[in-house]
Amino acid sequence: MSVTSRATMTAPVLLPDPDTIRNATAILSRGGLVAMPTETVYGLAGDATNPKAVARIYAVKERPVFNPLIAHVASPHAAFAQGAFSPEARELALHFWPGPLTLVVNATPDTTVCDLARAGLDTLALRVPAHPDAQALLEEFGKPLVAPSANPSGRISPTQAAHVAADLGDKIDLILDGGPCREGIESTVIDARWATPALLRKGTLSPAMIDAVWPGLTEGGGEGQPVSPGQLLRHYAPDAALRLNADSPAPGEAFLGFGAVSGATLNLSPSGDLAEAAANLFAMLRELDKTHDRIAVAPIPGDGLGAAINDRLVRAANRS
Ligand code: TXA
Ligand code: MG
Repeated sequence: MSVTSRATMTAPVLLPDPDTIRNATAILSRGGLVAMPTETVYGLAGDATNPKAVARIYAVKERPVFNPLIAHVASPHAAFAQGAFSPEARELALHFWPGPLTLVVNATPDTTVCDLARAGLDTLALRVPAHPDAQALLEEFGKPLVAPSANPSGRISPTQAAHVAADLGDKIDLILDGGPCREGIESTVIDARWATPALLRKGTLSPAMIDAVWPGLTEGGGEGQPVSPGQLLRHYAPDAALRLNADSPAPGEAFLGFGAVSGATLNLSPSGDLAEAAANLFAMLRELDKTHDRIAVAPIPGDGLGAAINDRLVRAANRS
């Protein structure tokens, strides 16, 4: 399992027992890369303080280096040491962490997250994940871990260890198998640097939930000018062409259903439950992408979690 043997072997997929967690931190300390389950999607974790490890993450994902990474830490306390939090930002953090929330703040002068991880910006995106395996790894490692979703840049995010093995297994050192991700889509990203919070990426925490803790939430960055460099229009993309808001499939199309539709090849949630649909979204897109060139997707309501699901679907369907 040494870092040097990676070219010739596929990363082992292991259950994260205490021995494996210790082994994983040893790999990370040497600059290696470990796929880590979180409650949202699987992340490709590397030592945030080590520019060589971070460079490898960009290379493995073929990610543009202008797109900064999220630094994951074990506790709000650890996050407050890396970034400058206003009282309101602090309250938001304490309310939702650990959980599917990422906060963009100004980096403190003595942040240990390296420049490359921040894409040279003065800001820093921080998250305290809730998944017990991510928590165990962060606790044991004791330093921030950058962890972008563990997929090639622009493609469908992984929600199972097998997705990571298929996409990146021959390029990384270890995959921790923490089971299917509970939430299924990425964290809500909030720019927390101002008097009011700005939404940079829709996620499983809805705007209403954020607003209830820190009022005045605005939508940050227009389509053409993403404030969050990762919010590119084409993202989460399968090979297959996607047709959205379809009432029924055309000949040759797979049909990804929602609610009580008939003729679905797979159904995100037969009962019309948006949380279930979010958890199934990426796995089902991957499944249909294996067998079909074209996928029709049933309409998904736009309220609550539906907004985040539709955001992913629109980007996945974009061909430009
Ligand atoms: O749920 C998640 O957030 C997952 C899990 C693994 O934690 N991670 C994830 O990372 O989705 P990634 O790299 O795929 O997406 C990070 C997003 C990108 O849109 C990036 O541009 C934005 O966060 N971001 C990172 N640092 C930023 C910063 N300083 N300012 C603005 N946006 C930033
Ligand atoms: Mg991603």
